Amino acid sequence: MSHLIGYKCGRCGALHQGRVPHSTCRSCNGSLLAVYDIEAVKNVIDKETLARRPPVMWKYFEILPVINRDNVVSLGEGYTPMIELSKVGERVGLKNAYLKDESRNPTATFKDRPISVTVSVLKELGVRSVAMPSAGNAGSALTAYGAKAGLEVHVVMPSDTPRAIYAESLVHGAEVILVNGLITDAARVVAEGVSRHGWLDVSTMKVPYRVEGTKTMGYEIAEQMSWDPPDVVVFPTGGGEGLVGLWKGFKELVELDWIDRMPRLVAVQSEGCRPIVEAYLKGEDRVEFFEGCDTIASGIRVPKPFADAEIMNAIRESQGTAIDVSEEEIVKSVRELAVAEGILACPEGAAAYAAVKKLTDLKLVDRDEKVVIINTGSGLKYFELLFRMLSI
Ligand SMILES: Cc1ncc(COP(=O)(O)O)c(C=O)c1O
Ligand SMILES: [Zn+2]
Repeated sequence: MSHLIGYKCGRCGALHQGRVPHSTCRSCNGSLLAVYDIEAVKNVIDKETLARRPPVMWKYFEILPVINRDNVVSLGEGYTPMIELSKVGERVGLKNAYLKDESRNPTATFKDRPISVTVSVLKELGVRSVAMPSAGNAGSALTAYGAKAGLEVHVVMPSDTPRAIYAESLVHGAEVILVNGLITDAARVVAEGVSRHGWLDVSTMKVPYRVEGTKTMGYEIAEQMSWDPPDVVVFPTGGGEGLVGLWKGFKELVELDWIDRMPRLVAVQSEGCRPIVEAYLKGEDRVEFFEGCDTIASGIRVPKPFADAEIMNAIRESQGTAIDVSEEEIVKSVRELAVAEGILACPEGAAAYAAVKKLTDLKLVDRDEKVVIINTGSGLKYFELLFRMLSI
């Protein structure tokens, strides 16, 4: 059974309980985070129990927020491979570089994890219609899991979202609204639908269920490395549910005594949209709106993340950093991973890879350290970019 206690506000500490859809904190509008009875979890599962279970994301059921296992909506997400970067590792200055390949998820990005958890909880609570502004990939994941669960789905995305993501979302039968602008403009359209039609808004960090999915990346990394966690995990960051999920996942593993330390978490952005990097460099706890955001890595094209305080906390508490890479470096890295390692990374994942070279050059990462780069999705969703790279 799940050992969920409730949802705690990361800012004011208020605990929210009850079997109703939770959103943000009723007192201060902060993001809520699920809390579990860790001692009870320790009594029912251990590393050996986990090793005997099938390799799927839901193997960590006791520390996930669905109460009744029958309500799990799964398309086979998680337990993605960790690939040793045997050829390019040395090129980026590392002896031990690994890539966790999230493109192997059902809709080909890591967003299947948060959406599988969210749709499962909402099914359990009897919710009928959901809506989400999305840079693209979370939206298309929602359309797939929503179809499986029989939910009415509305997604709003920028009109220049890669065409494959748009088409995929439509084919799953959802309503897809395109807006001229960025995810922040899409959020305004969702807010209107919420007040007019009663949709449930399941935006990044506005419901506490999503990071429960992304945290499983941390669980898996630790388990796949035989509970000897890496020194550094590098993640392309936009809205922050990936990074905050990794932080929460590793923190819970430390509380469970399954690992003895938290890896340093690195948030990677593009030079063309780097609000988190600017906040980090200025030593701020909050992130300012980045004017004129523009990058081919559309998943990290987020001018102001809602969960800015939580993102900055995840970076600082893990003693990590935030770093940006140029558009040229992103494109070069897509090609380098494809040619040398046979991995067709999405531009966001390629940005994370590109950042590692800078981290080792700047001596922020030592060549003997163990580093995991997360390739958050498949390059196949970014046809426009691939064609542009090939000039066809
Ligand atoms: C492929 C890809 N990578 C990275 C991100 C950024 O993730 P997050 O919003 O959790 O920071 C996204 C978000 O849409 C994405 O689609
Ligand atoms: Zn609060």
